[in-house]
Amino acid sequence: MSADGFSKAPPPGARADWTIDQGWEAYTPAEHQVWITLYARQAATLEGRACDPFLKGLEALDLHRSGIPDFVRINAELNRLTGWSVVAVPGLVPDEVFFDHLANRRFPAGQFIRKPEQLDYLQEPDIFHDVFGHVPMLTDPVFADYMQAYGRGGQRAMQRGQLANLARLYWYTVEFGLLQTPQGARIYGAGIVSSRAESVFALEDPSPNRLAFDLERVMRTPYRIDDFQQVYFVVPSLKALLEATLQDFAPIYDRLAEASDIPIDAILPSDRVITAGTQAYAHGKAAAQ
Ligand SMILES: [Fe+2]
Repeated sequence: MSADGFSKAPPPGARADWTIDQGWEAYTPAEHQVWITLYARQAATLEGRACDPFLKGLEALDLHRSGIPDFVRINAELNRLTGWSVVAVPGLVPDEVFFDHLANRRFPAGQFIRKPEQLDYLQEPDIFHDVFGHVPMLTDPVFADYMQAYGRGGQRAMQRGQLANLARLYWYTVEFGLLQTPQGARIYGAGIVSSRAESVFALEDPSPNRLAFDLERVMRTPYRIDDFQQVYFVVPSLKALLEATLQDFAPIYDRLAEASDIPIDAILPSDRVITAGTQAYAHGKAAAQ
């Protein structure tokens, strides 16, 4: 995850690329216990809901061991599988730092873990969201290439001043993406797999729209950072996602510069609808405020 509005200098103790040592030896038994609790909950929830590449990645990296994983250990296997590695950062990093890491097959992960009273929600991504949520998909060769392509795309989008459009692609794929499978839609987005409630909501609740992925459409769709999504985009395959991202975005950005945003709950005549949501959840929340 990246964020704007940060000072461009790394915080004290961090290297020029904002990385720090994970300091695995310093985690307390209580912190390891938070990981163990979250892992057990999510493993049970994700059976039959997460896509196979995610579940295979969890196994391959042996993330279910006895607590917070040591990056040295997982990097040995991750590097062997796809050439990626995980690097520790103190928190959100500036966009250009984030894109540079991705473009070089390094995933920046928060080093800290949430408190026991924050199991269900926290504002900044911690090591559970970043490592449990994101890293298993990086063991998949196609998704691994997609994340690198995204990092390179980020560098180009910054030069063009169209980061807001590109950030929506990240949001609706890397964080909240669904994958079509013969058994129905399955989760690959890190924001979903690291949330017990959204893992169920994203697949089973009648409220959100579920639409076939279309890159330009996604880039015109705003998103919610404060609650469950009102729309999820379903990719037909990870290969199709990678291929869509490898095309030249320049003509797309030219069109987007002229185009208006699509309302978050809209269904367009051109959409391929998988589920037309009731939006009951979002409307209920809005009415209660
Ligand atoms: Fe994330």
